[in-house]
Amino acid sequence: MEEMYLEWSRQARIALEKPVSVRFNRGFRSIIVAGMGGSGIVGDVLSTLSAKYSSLPVITVKNHILPGYTSPEDLLLVVSYSGNTIETLRIFDSALERNIPMVTVSSGGLLKTRAYEHGIPHVKLPEGLAPRASLPSMLYGILKLLYENNLLNIPFKIIEDSVVFLEEKAGKAVADAGVIAEWVNRCKGLLVISTHSPLESLGLRGKNEFNENAKIPVKVDVAPEWMHNDIVGYEEPFLKDFTVLEVVDPDDKVGVMLVDFMRTIYAKVTGRFHRLVLEGVSLLDKIMYGSMVFGLSSCKLARMRGIDPLKTASILEYKKVAG
Ligand code: PA5
Repeated sequence: MEEMYLEWSRQARIALEKPVSVRFNRGFRSIIVAGMGGSGIVGDVLSTLSAKYSSLPVITVKNHILPGYTSPEDLLLVVSYSGNTIETLRIFDSALERNIPMVTVSSGGLLKTRAYEHGIPHVKLPEGLAPRASLPSMLYGILKLLYENNLLNIPFKIIEDSVVFLEEKAGKAVADAGVIAEWVNRCKGLLVISTHSPLESLGLRGKNEFNENAKIPVKVDVAPEWMHNDIVGYEEPFLKDFTVLEVVDPDDKVGVMLVDFMRTIYAKVTGRFHRLVLEGVSLLDKIMYGSMVFGLSSCKLARMRGIDPLKTASILEYKKVAG
């Protein structure tokens, strides 16, 4: 599965080269992204990017309920790698009933079939990947679609540069991932990803990657919100078996200072720390770099544990029950 992550710059380039056929010729009040797991994270990343670069809010929905405030003034992006995820299909059905403008994104499945039946635009993803490993296909495909429709003001140069950056930094990502995998494997204990705003989506991505690829539970702590609740849990420590992976943007001095401060509090219960310093110039570079390191390190950890990173048996079990 590591090869899929090592192909990320290629995936992103192919997504950017694909012509966009969807044209809206109008503006929207907000963009709502519906999706679960490895597909839903696209909404989280877009939301982080829009907060930095755009005047258009991006809201992520990770369940089966289309929010009551959704109106035909909004654009709904329905994202499901397989196209068969029940929560996402329910959102699609509700949006149809409520005449919400939509674009669907999938590699196939029922979402593609239903989109074609109802004349809803569909963006086709390459087949044969794990959903979580196809992040660049989904993200860059959507970034291009939004850019060409004047819906996200992120400069296109930042998007293009990030593809070159991903290619150039693949070796460094492999090295960082190797160190992290060895270290997590040695430490054991609950893995805590400690990071700072605006890297919430990256922290979450890290958790999901270690959950799904390495099959371990993970907690994500994000400053400064952490300082307003979690911090109190260390006054009279209840749990002590933590292994803390810090993730920082070196250009964000306040963020680094906050993560340094978190370490002084965790130090009451653990001495196990490792810091991933994100590479890159733009926020997009940094999120993609961190995501690549998480993907590779979680796969390496899986191998060390004698586990197949690709298989997610319990998610399949859930999907059978949910329908
Ligand atoms: O990465 C994964 O395999 C999962 O997190 C899936 O993305 C999640 O179960 C949703 O499936 P899909 O992306 O096919 O809608």
